[in-house]
Amino acid sequence: MKIEGKEYRTIWYDGNVVKIIDQTKLPHQFIIKELKKVQDAINAIKIMEVRGAPLIGGTAAYGIALAVKENKDPKFIKKNAEKLIKSRPTAINLKWAVDRMMEKLSGINSDKILDIALNEAKEICDEDEKFCKNIGVNGLKIIEEIFDKKKETVNILTHCNAGWLATINWGTATSPIYHAHKKGIPVHVWVDETRPRNQGANLTSYELNEEEISNTIIADNTGGILMQRGEVDMCIVGTDRTLSNGDVCNKIGTYLKALAAHDNNVPFYVALPSSTIDWNIKDAKEIPIEERNSEELSHVEGIDENNQLKKVLIYPKKSKAINLAFDVTPAKYVTGLITERGISEASSEGLKRLFN
Ligand code: MRU
Repeated sequence: MKIEGKEYRTIWYDGNVVKIIDQTKLPHQFIIKELKKVQDAINAIKIMEVRGAPLIGGTAAYGIALAVKENKDPKFIKKNAEKLIKSRPTAINLKWAVDRMMEKLSGINSDKILDIALNEAKEICDEDEKFCKNIGVNGLKIIEEIFDKKKETVNILTHCNAGWLATINWGTATSPIYHAHKKGIPVHVWVDETRPRNQGANLTSYELNEEEISNTIIADNTGGILMQRGEVDMCIVGTDRTLSNGDVCNKIGTYLKALAAHDNNVPFYVALPSSTIDWNIKDAKEIPIEERNSEELSHVEGIDENNQLKKVLIYPKKSKAINLAFDVTPAKYVTGLITERGISEASSEGLKRLFN
């Protein structure tokens, strides 16, 4: 999608290095960063220069290619594959991408190994872009139906950033919105600010602005009253891990939004590529929930009057805080899963029907 009118993907290989958009600096600074070694990819995932489940997967895939470039010793590659998998715990795409890369490279001793690794990483990214585009085509039908009935702007609420910046392109939750906008359907997006890291305000609103899609940032607690007032036609969110029974793990606060949607009969959709489905874990309690530094809560970052990035403390110095990054929305609150293969009900039967 576009930034200042120029088309980008979130990650690409160019002149022997991997390039990413540093998302810790958005929306105030647009910086393209180079990843030269596997450790750079691990750091980029850890400190969230790249984030969002599909993009974490794409970066991990390129991370393996960078490991191969540094040292073809299988022990070195394996050790770094393990480090990559541990760099963030919740998004299943990370392990999925590393496993796929390792399988592709297994038993290859020839000089071609680097080309094979780079091709596979690109293939993972190309596939994600294609899948996210299809999510848009499938999800568009839901927005069209609402518009056909309402004949007025469709108001969509989203949480966190499940936009193109979280994927390779298009986004998951935003892809149906981009498709609707391109088709001329009037859409307006309620963007949850998404404390503590503000991915909604900093990234979702930013990317919607760049595509000239009408949007309004709201505090995370505002969605409920908007739903009670009939000002939300549907919710669409992304996911970091969806279980085969349809339970959905996503950014902290998603569950509360789903409860409010349920209470107000607002359809609550989750958009995902199949790489985000965890077919192994059967119980949501087993999903590793990332706990991040509480400084993300106690401090806020922004630009001052001189355009300088600044971080300030907003809590009492002695207060403790806990920063759980994800929660799980039980399948019963999910109206449907929008995938690259179509829309399924959030249940084992629904997912099996689509993915056999
Ligand atoms: O902590 P983040 O910013 O990586 O969390 C991102 C989300 O929760 C997204 O909703 C999810 O990864 C889906 S991205 C298409």
